[in-house]
Amino acid sequence: MRTVLIIGMGGVGSVVAHKCHQVPDVFTKIVLASRRLESCKHVKAQVGNPEIDIAQVDADNTHEVVALIRKYQPQLVVNTALPYQDLSIMEACLETGVDYLDTANYEPPNEAKFEYKWQWDYHDRFKEKGIMALLGCGFDPGVTNIFAAYAKKHHFDELHYIDIMDANGGDHGQPFATNFNPEINIREITQRGKYYEAGEWKTTDPLSVHKPFDFPGVGEREMYLMYHEEMESLVQNFPEIKRIRFWMTFSEQYLTHLRVLQNVGMTSIEPVEYEGHSIVPLKFLKAVLPEPSSLGSKTKGKTCIGDMIEGTKGGQPRKYYIYNICDHEACYEEVGSQAISYTTGVPAMIGSKMLLEGLWRGQGVFNVEEFDPDPFMEDLKRYGLPWEEQFL
Ligand SMILES: NC(=O)c1ccc[n+]([C@@H]2O[C@H](COP(=O)([O-])OP(=O)(O)OC[C@H]3O[C@@H](n4cnc5c(N)ncnc54)[C@H](OP(=O)(O)O)[C@@H]3O)[C@@H](O)[C@H]2O)c1
Repeated sequence: MRTVLIIGMGGVGSVVAHKCHQVPDVFTKIVLASRRLESCKHVKAQVGNPEIDIAQVDADNTHEVVALIRKYQPQLVVNTALPYQDLSIMEACLETGVDYLDTANYEPPNEAKFEYKWQWDYHDRFKEKGIMALLGCGFDPGVTNIFAAYAKKHHFDELHYIDIMDANGGDHGQPFATNFNPEINIREITQRGKYYEAGEWKTTDPLSVHKPFDFPGVGEREMYLMYHEEMESLVQNFPEIKRIRFWMTFSEQYLTHLRVLQNVGMTSIEPVEYEGHSIVPLKFLKAVLPEPSSLGSKTKGKTCIGDMIEGTKGGQPRKYYIYNICDHEACYEEVGSQAISYTTGVPAMIGSKMLLEGLWRGQGVFNVEEFDPDPFMEDLKRYGLPWEEQFL
């Protein structure tokens, strides 16, 4: 019997639960845990599998996660809670000797900064324990890293220039809402931009560098240069990369709202005193914005996320574009979620499947591009995220 414990029953966790349920020969037992039992009950009812077990857990507390793992004896813990919980869940996996997978790298709550260092530092301890952690197995990070590994394996001798481009052409009809956790999303977007070129990291003012791109399935959109974590591991794992950048599209309406919220201080993570209470403005903003999981039924349109790669093959220059187009309404019909949760949850399920089937194995802490991309790429087509490629 193979048991998977999924912690964090928000937008992404719900999709992982649905998709694991669709592959019962691999995930013979599913346990859902979250800060609120209500969230688990909701997802269990949506999935419609009475065999699923549910539990309440505060994943900030390693002891609680250890107790949960000891109770259910999973082979794998999938972390779909927030980046703040990564280290406490990894500690619990170490203590109990269980494999770990997540979709976003650790971020300290009181500092809007994300980098792999905190989690890479666990490598030796995971190795000694003989267990494995697979980091960043969503779409970006995740599939975008695997696209690069696939390009390297099949079409290039060297990858020189990579532009990861993420377009969300979806419309949810709300004046302002984020497609995944608003707090994490706004922390990410309001940071300074950063990209890698000629051996060094260069920074830009937030969202100051932008250009249009005609995305397949979505159309022309303005995309903005941002920092994103997959660049850090790709540069490490493909040292021949000369430049790598990450771009994401935003509508003018979204940016106008964000600018106003920033200007009045609502995106700050510095606590303020309010009527005798200490409040973090961004956390309060999250509380009044729509839950990403509530946007599914309202969102229409498509996403297109992919890698534009230039490099060489047999001494000749080559340019190649690989991407996935995902339809918000089709995702909602299948699993009751919009495409952002879907494009993150499906790869997390496939990564879990790779681990449990023994196709991706190692001892220590790994990023997804370190493994053979082929079985993962086949499963993307099989489980709802078909990809396309163009030689330009
Ligand atoms: N790689 C990618 O492509 C990608 C894309 C999008 C998102 N992500 C990542 O995916 C993760 C989930 O995003 P989301 O949009 O699903 O967010 P979400 O809807 O806010 O869900 C997060 C869930 O985590 C649970 N949670 C929070 N703190 C917890 C704690 N201390 N203990 C236990 N559970 C806790 C919450 O539980 P309750 O509901 O029980 O309160 C909530 O349901 C985030 O880390 C995000 O950065 C990755």
